[in-house]
Amino acid sequence: MLKPVNIAVLVSGGGTNLQALINAQRDGLLHSGKIQLVLSSKPDAYALIRAQQAGIPAVAVSKKQAGSQQAFEEALLAQLRAHHIDLIVLAGFMSILSEEFIKAYPRRILNVHPSLIPSFCGQGFYGLRVHEAALAYGVKVTGATVHFVNEIPDGGEIIAQKAVDILPGDTPEILQRRVMEQAEWVLLPQATEAVSAALQTEREGNDE
Ligand code: GAR
Repeated sequence: MLKPVNIAVLVSGGGTNLQALINAQRDGLLHSGKIQLVLSSKPDAYALIRAQQAGIPAVAVSKKQAGSQQAFEEALLAQLRAHHIDLIVLAGFMSILSEEFIKAYPRRILNVHPSLIPSFCGQGFYGLRVHEAALAYGVKVTGATVHFVNEIPDGGEIIAQKAVDILPGDTPEILQRRVMEQAEWVLLPQATEAVSAALQTEREGNDE
């Protein structure tokens, strides 16, 4: 049996996408990678409790306490290195990472975004704001995207997308929930498994 790749999930809030990954691991859908660490940019994020309940080491790294973006990223990198992390999954992580950080993990960082990129994405589009913008524009279809993270916010290579209908009477909250249920919670575990499996194969090839 191949050794699973070590995954870190980075969060800032409720952590429902983290929960989808934990459930996928429990159910064997995610088996080429193992969640070894959860890092939160907010000390009071409910995602930390989800991690603890699943027995996964969980650490809060606060930008405020760190004092600067550089110190914040150094603290994140120290945790990632200490846990020998191969693959990073941004699951509702509300902090933009520097080019230097991203370069330390080329094609090793995934992000889930709650729209069909290139619509409603980039700086300032996160969480509920994305759904507010989609409703304000009046689009009839939205969705979610999982992509590799590069130096352009929401600009990296797309791995998977799924469309979700916007229905009459939708509020940002109702739409957010539908996009999560129909798209994010399905796509993120699938993409994480696919990328983990590819990394495992690559590692095997290098070992030969
Ligand atoms: C999710 O909808 C995720 O796609 C979004 O924040 C929410 C986090 O929810 N991420 C972004 O907007 C990133 N640009 P969760 O904490 O329950 O997973």
